[in-house]
Amino acid sequence: MIEGKRRAAQAALSEVKDGQILGIGTGSTVAIFIEILAERIRNEGLSLMCVPTSYQSAHLAMERGIRLTTLEEHPTLDLAVDGADEIDRELNLIKGGGAALTREKIVDSAAKRFVVIADKSKLVERLGSKAAVPIEVIPMSWRRVANMVRVLGGEPRLRDGGDRKDGPLVTDNGNFILDINFGPIEDPRALEFELKRIPGVVEVGLFVNLANAAYIGSERGVEKIERKS
Ligand code: A5P
Repeated sequence: MIEGKRRAAQAALSEVKDGQILGIGTGSTVAIFIEILAERIRNEGLSLMCVPTSYQSAHLAMERGIRLTTLEEHPTLDLAVDGADEIDRELNLIKGGGAALTREKIVDSAAKRFVVIADKSKLVERLGSKAAVPIEVIPMSWRRVANMVRVLGGEPRLRDGGDRKDGPLVTDNGNFILDINFGPIEDPRALEFELKRIPGVVEVGLFVNLANAAYIGSERGVEKIERKS
């Protein structure tokens, strides 16, 4: 799996050009991308700046000497590189396993070109087959949002903070995450729309029609899927 992630990250590096402003996603695959990007910047003396999507990627990029900037300074990015929890062949995605979906959607959609990097296990016939759909919600609204999500046929679960934080996970934006199990999703765009209109929902981890290409890595090599339209 790690080899697949590494190969995908390496392949996406070929899209990076000197002088670009890059969006960088979040997660373990992006962490590999940041490492090899930093190496390339050092070796080739590239002049690049990155907009991170989380404290995780901001901290790692800073530690590796990558210059950071903001969307306020650069509202349009040349390229965004990000991971995913599930990818279908139309390049629709489920994202938010690392709770960074809101900033990821803002940054990824601000890029002229958005490429996804992932290992082969993320490729699915239909979104929702394996992963739940995360949504970021305003804390005071979570129980009401959960009730409304059940009406849409989903089974929501408030994400826990895990071993190092008692109670619910709190995102980089100070909100909660609901992970919603829908099973295989027939119409991701319609579901994204329905979820987004529930008061209290900040963002939905369905990324429909946003990615331009995906690099899917495995032990054997990399498959590139390019969006047609
Ligand atoms: C972060 O919130 C997510 O959207 C990640 O991009 C996604 O979970 C992929 O992470 P990995 O590269 O660790 O699988």
